[in-house]
Amino acid sequence: MLADKIVIIDFGSQYTKLIARKVRECRVYSEVVPCTDDLAYLKNDKSLKGIILSGGPQSVYMKNSNLLADLILDLGLPILGICYGLQLLSHHFKGTVKGGKTREFGKTNIKCSAQTLIFQGVSKKLSVWMSHHDHIKKLPGEFKITSRSENGLISSFESKTKKIYGVQFHPEVNHTQDGIKIIKNFLFKVCKLKNKWKMGSFIDEKVMEIRKLVGGKKAICAMSGGVDSAVAAYLINKAIGKNLICVHIDNGLMRKNESREIVKYFSGKLNLKFIDASGIFLKRLKGVVDPETKRKIIGKTFIDVFQQFAKKQMGKEGRSRIKFLIQGTLYPDVIESSSFHGPSETIKTHHNVGGLPKSLHMKLIEPFRELFKDEVRVIGKILKVPEEILGRHPFPGPGLAVRILGDITKEKLDILREADYIYRESLHKHKLYNKIWQAFCVLLPVSTVGVMGDIRTYERVIALRAVGSVDGMTANWFHMPATVLEDISTGITNNVKGVNRVVYDISNKPPSTIEWE
Ligand code: XMP
Repeated sequence: MLADKIVIIDFGSQYTKLIARKVRECRVYSEVVPCTDDLAYLKNDKSLKGIILSGGPQSVYMKNSNLLADLILDLGLPILGICYGLQLLSHHFKGTVKGGKTREFGKTNIKCSAQTLIFQGVSKKLSVWMSHHDHIKKLPGEFKITSRSENGLISSFESKTKKIYGVQFHPEVNHTQDGIKIIKNFLFKVCKLKNKWKMGSFIDEKVMEIRKLVGGKKAICAMSGGVDSAVAAYLINKAIGKNLICVHIDNGLMRKNESREIVKYFSGKLNLKFIDASGIFLKRLKGVVDPETKRKIIGKTFIDVFQQFAKKQMGKEGRSRIKFLIQGTLYPDVIESSSFHGPSETIKTHHNVGGLPKSLHMKLIEPFRELFKDEVRVIGKILKVPEEILGRHPFPGPGLAVRILGDITKEKLDILREADYIYRESLHKHKLYNKIWQAFCVLLPVSTVGVMGDIRTYERVIALRAVGSVDGMTANWFHMPATVLEDISTGITNNVKGVNRVVYDISNKPPSTIEWE
């Protein structure tokens, strides 16, 4: 029997998948569907128990905006409208939505003014996350206002009889106080769902789906050795066994000893091949300074090397046998690399979110496109991926290339590799590694004056970065004890030739990003 579920209709918000994730955290199965799809099929879906309308960048009163189809309301199911979703509901029932002088962005206080199921057990005064220009000027008669913001704007409403609820703020964002309680109230008190769904069910569903898709053909998995591609490889291995060929490409931009360790961890467990392509990557990156150009070159070179390998493999196995490419792309990679629907501007083009050359005739399988890193770690644990791999900090596809500001040389890579190694070893020694979401060194494109053994030096600067995060979408700088910082700084300046200064990055994301490039 299919699990009861919630459908999230996506109107283009950068937070849509975050809603899906929060619903999964409540152990309820959810699906995201674009608002532009023909959703008539929903009326035959017996497992559907409620609808969430996401936020979005449009204005309900503009021509060509995506509006709410009657068929959604005809389902008679409970509805929760979030941000643009709330405005859509109000507009649909002939309320007035307007753009105004008062915009609300970021932390905003609201005051609950009436009893409502979705605010049960929630404080009367809440600090919530807002992100809107438009607001409800006049609410349709059948709805009751349940809270207002400190600016006097309507921040939520309900119609108990229609089982329709709207919130102007984003309960799915961690910054909203009691946000998860509000979502739970909608799921369990309004939709009367049961919290039965598990991550294990995700694995079973994906295994079945991939087995059916791949059939008797073969798939190739590019394994960087990071958490995402390792867990993806284990998942696909569970689905198709020896029909999965894994390949690890050393692009010369890896950390110290990394490729050697990856081969050691996975040999015997997976069908793994190793390619040393460092020469070609470094040759193509020579003299390149711009971060986006670096990413593009690395992405393209990766495809070229991979294509060569795949062709050779096809020569051995027969062209028609190898049909699929597996990648461990995560949701934040997708959202920050695309401007799908407009609102989520391209921030960095994460290189594993590119297309494949048509000549390869391979289809891309990305089993984790909807998931966040911590969810992938849970899956990895269930699949028994080695702890040493699961506990690793995220490492970007372009590797150390985006941690050397300016052009890349073998000499700079070696300096960074050594500093980074000392940094990570110190974090392990001080038992901090597992408390930090991501930590790494950055080699800055400046030299500074120092003094060593009475001699003036003019050498490079290493910046240390360490952040706490849940999903990489937002991050806070890690409050590292000063004694540990001192230990790391001394370790680096004493042991890494060419570095005479170490600095610590105290920026959050936003406004900074986690990586420096
Ligand atoms: P930013 O720097 O965008 O990083 O705040 C968020 C997370 O993504 C990783 N990152 C990348 N991963 N290719 C990747 O596969 C990339 O080009 C890339 N850029 C950043 C970053 O390490 C952090 O975990």
